[in-house]
Amino acid sequence: MEVIIKEDYEEISRLAAGIIAGMVRRSPRAVLGLATGGTPVGCYRELVRMHREEDLDFSQIVTFNLDEYVGLPEDHEQSYHRFMWDNLFSHINVAAANVHIPDGNAGDLHEACNDYEMELDEHGGVDIQLLGIGSNGHLAFNEPGSSLGSRTRIKTLTERTRQDNSRFFSTLDEVPKYCVTMGVGTIMESGKLLLLANGGNKAEAIAAAVEGPITASVPASAIQFHPDVTVIMDRAAASKLTREYHSQPHFLEGDKE
Ligand code: GLP
Repeated sequence: MEVIIKEDYEEISRLAAGIIAGMVRRSPRAVLGLATGGTPVGCYRELVRMHREEDLDFSQIVTFNLDEYVGLPEDHEQSYHRFMWDNLFSHINVAAANVHIPDGNAGDLHEACNDYEMELDEHGGVDIQLLGIGSNGHLAFNEPGSSLGSRTRIKTLTERTRQDNSRFFSTLDEVPKYCVTMGVGTIMESGKLLLLANGGNKAEAIAAAVEGPITASVPASAIQFHPDVTVIMDRAAASKLTREYHSQPHFLEGDKE
């Protein structure tokens, strides 16, 4: 696992966007796994800039999002559909037909979850999965106790997550109680994982995920099983880590000389 500690949110966002852009340039038909929440907004902003100023081309890119609330209309300000279009898709040249976000309004949610897994399989799986982390150690919306082998399914949000996310809604009551989310097992099949964390309220979760035992009580700790993980965070999120870490990717092309 590569753990990189940066000075601030801008640096986290630039490094993460650079890694994703590298994948897009190397593999123009790559499947990007995308995340929502406050954390990836800066990374998306930087990808939009690269599209505008550096011709970063998303025309053949396929995207799959991690999760969605159940019962929020797609055009609701806080739906993850809306989030993705507002923060990224409307500003780049991705084809709408290549965008996949779980449907939280499907008549049969179980069937929709199984279909989502099948579609992901048909595209050969995610090449690089962007992730945030919940303050309780959740990954996507896999709350503590989620099976580490879980697949896309309906989950109940914990009170802690509803509280955390209530900052985006007018009242706590408005925060949905259910969601659909890729499973931990689904996420673990991605070719590469890129987890971002920012701020002191993530410090405990990051310490448990990166240095703690692998346990369903901290779903993000499952990343320790993955052969290709990069975790990028600021000093505040890193404040409860105890091992030695670096501020740059540990091997750069120039290091060969
Ligand atoms: C959200 C999302 C997660 C995200 C996490 C942290 O509710 N479902 O994918 O990583 O919680 O969010 P934030 O980046 O806003 O702290």
